[in-house]
Amino acid sequence: MSTFQAPKGTYDLIPPESAKYLAVREAIAAPLRNSGYGYIETPGFENVELFARGVGESTDIVTKEMYAFETKGGDQLALRPEGTASVLRAALEANLHKLGNLPVKLWYSGSYYRYERPQKGRYRHFSQVGAEAIGAEDPALDAELIILADQAYRSLGLRNFRILLNSLGDKECRPVYREALQTFLRGLDLDEETLRRADINPLRVLDDKRPDVQKQLTDAPLLRDYLCDACKAYHEEVRQLITAAGVSFEDDPKLVRGLDYYTRTTFEFVHDGLGSQSAVGGGGRYDGLSEMIGGPALPSVGWALGVDRTVLALEAEGVELELPASTSVFAVPLGDEARRVLFTKVTELRKLGIAADFSYGSKGLKGAMKSANRSGARYTIVAGERDLAEGVVQLKDMESGDQRAVGVNEIVAELESKLG
Ligand code: HAM
Repeated sequence: MSTFQAPKGTYDLIPPESAKYLAVREAIAAPLRNSGYGYIETPGFENVELFARGVGESTDIVTKEMYAFETKGGDQLALRPEGTASVLRAALEANLHKLGNLPVKLWYSGSYYRYERPQKGRYRHFSQVGAEAIGAEDPALDAELIILADQAYRSLGLRNFRILLNSLGDKECRPVYREALQTFLRGLDLDEETLRRADINPLRVLDDKRPDVQKQLTDAPLLRDYLCDACKAYHEEVRQLITAAGVSFEDDPKLVRGLDYYTRTTFEFVHDGLGSQSAVGGGGRYDGLSEMIGGPALPSVGWALGVDRTVLALEAEGVELELPASTSVFAVPLGDEARRVLFTKVTELRKLGIAADFSYGSKGLKGAMKSANRSGARYTIVAGERDLAEGVVQLKDMESGDQRAVGVNEIVAELESKLG
């Protein structure tokens, strides 16, 4: 161990575990790539104002969890706590919305940072794969995103997740509800801080996990009963489209999200094997965000799925991903001449796309065969001076244990036909 350890709330991805994370990212991205989403990458940090305005001044993310700092040049920056504000900022900056092809559909994958209290499933550095569809108000788009996330989880073999669905209304009906909720909350027996939250962001109080608070909320007014006709019709259409796609979901009229930009459709994917950090993904519509960050009106919708929690969910369900063996052929040279010959063969195999590795350093036969075993390779090629003098190498099938001599000039073609 060195003097240093990974910072609190972070962990390293190390082989062979790390292969799972790659597979999860890939499985989430595949349905997006297949549905017209283009890949976007934005910087790991942004102007702090982008998140203050976008995610919301009063959210926990902005008030408590942001890694904000001043650079040597005096810029106020923050490590990105989420992807939506950055992706929208980048799309506006590149004028993607002006190319006459709305919605602009983008997907991304990367690291995000929140200064949270670490626990299982909650980290200070975590990883998301996300999707944003910018510039269209169409219930089919909301439905598409929910269906694609469902497809991604299912393709991984995940089963025990649920989709919670709600509508948060729009700028017409939400303020009316907000006031009704505030009036209700002021009549409850709540502590100072919660009452303050009720003033600034009353919907967040609905999300309070404490039993004594939840008990008082049973009769809280529900946004559902305040939705305007347009929001109601929109939500009903989203529900029907998802249902028609065979994706089951639960209406959750109390679902609130931790970010302020949401309007209308909101959803969360929860997994029941994860304890308190049960949200494996979440998202929704954010019709006002573009204007909040100085852009034109661009109704949009998106989600982000947490890679770390998806891996935990797979483990909780005991799903073993079918990961491709990282090495198919392992070469074990005995002596200098064999090193040169087998190294050339390994290079040739790799050029053909066959995963091959080599016994480096000066190991004896026993140590080298141990490495061959550990590599998981299906075949090992061994060669010593006597083999080369006869123009052959030994090809060992690691599954059956069979070994036979194959001509030096034939070995690559032989392995290609076996593995190809
Ligand atoms: P979010 O719900 O804050 O939404 O995060 C999405 C997912 O990221 C969560 O469901 C969870 O799986 C994962 N996640 C969040 N925080 C942590 C953490 N501290 N440790 C581990 N995993 C975490 C957003 O970020 C929105 N930008 C989603 C969105 C996209 N909405 C519209 N478009």
